[in-house]
Amino acid sequence: MKATAKAPANIAFIKYWGKLDEKLRLPCNDSISMNLSHAFTITTVEFSDKYHKDEFIFMSNVILGRSEATTPESDSGQARMTKQDVKEEQRVIKQLDRIRKIADSKLFAKVVTKNSFPKGTGIASSASGFAALTLAAAAALNLKLSEKELSILARLGSGSACRSIPDGFVEWKSGNTSVESYAYSLFDENYWDLKDIIVLVSPEEKKTSSSKGHENVNSSLFFKTRLANLPDKIKRFKKALQEKNINIFGELLEGEAVELHTIMMTQSPPLFYWNSATMDIIKKVQDWREQGLSVYFTIDAGPNVHLICGKKEEKIVLVKLKESGHVDNLIINSPAKGAKIIDQHLF
Ligand code: DP6
Repeated sequence: MKATAKAPANIAFIKYWGKLDEKLRLPCNDSISMNLSHAFTITTVEFSDKYHKDEFIFMSNVILGRSEATTPESDSGQARMTKQDVKEEQRVIKQLDRIRKIADSKLFAKVVTKNSFPKGTGIASSASGFAALTLAAAAALNLKLSEKELSILARLGSGSACRSIPDGFVEWKSGNTSVESYAYSLFDENYWDLKDIIVLVSPEEKKTSSSKGHENVNSSLFFKTRLANLPDKIKRFKKALQEKNINIFGELLEGEAVELHTIMMTQSPPLFYWNSATMDIIKKVQDWREQGLSVYFTIDAGPNVHLICGKKEEKIVLVKLKESGHVDNLIINSPAKGAKIIDQHLF
């Protein structure tokens, strides 16, 4: 009754922003993403009658070792709970309840989880977190669920988590009902040797979660226009992906990130996730491209910048980042498999 899963975070190329149904987490639009090899969550879940309530341990980010400033550790080496953690705990319990219901189980669980990156900084910790939790809990209760069923279930915990279940390059079809809204692989992780160099400009937890941000999307003047134009954009984006045309792909990618943040900044209340370092990198990327370097940026719900380039551009992008002083905290990713069961338990 114990299982451990490892699930990648994913970077959204076409973003999910706005829900048709809050509770079911049905999105307003389709989205497309890539799983990340070095930004992931590992979660062990054990169900047992020895537990009298659900227990959680959010371990500090031992893999990157960066969380000390924001989540001070107790003597036991476990991170102290922040207000945000308490909220997340409620979400985790709800997710466990969904899985217990399917398995017809009344057992409580112990959940231990750790990330390879700082939580709540726009690197989709809820995506990798809920994907890993869903897979581990389902396996611990011996449920035999298909990839589609796992994706649907993960989506109920956090929308973007449904994209961390399938491998590689993934599309999430919005659907009109819960059973229609799931993600599947467009191409596996070996399809295109893209690099996603995440520049962590801020390890701090963001003040407004993306869940909260989604709620106010309709107050942006531009949201309707975005939705009207998205089907055509997605078509062009998928064509560029199919043809591995990095220039068209990159232009659409950047436009999409700027559009997402335009919506965010024009919502009420407005959401400003960027900081001055974010802006600095955006401008540098434009300069580098003028110099002939094929590299593009995208940004999710946070200030950190994802630099997308081909494998052969990786070295020079790293040199450029070094020259510009942005080298302290990088996570260099390749496309990755989706959530998988692993043998090594966290407890
Ligand atoms: C900007 O999946 O975190 O990263 O469903 O409320 O958990 P909830 O939202 P979440 O939203 C992610 C928003 C985004 C874009 C994306 O990943 O597509």
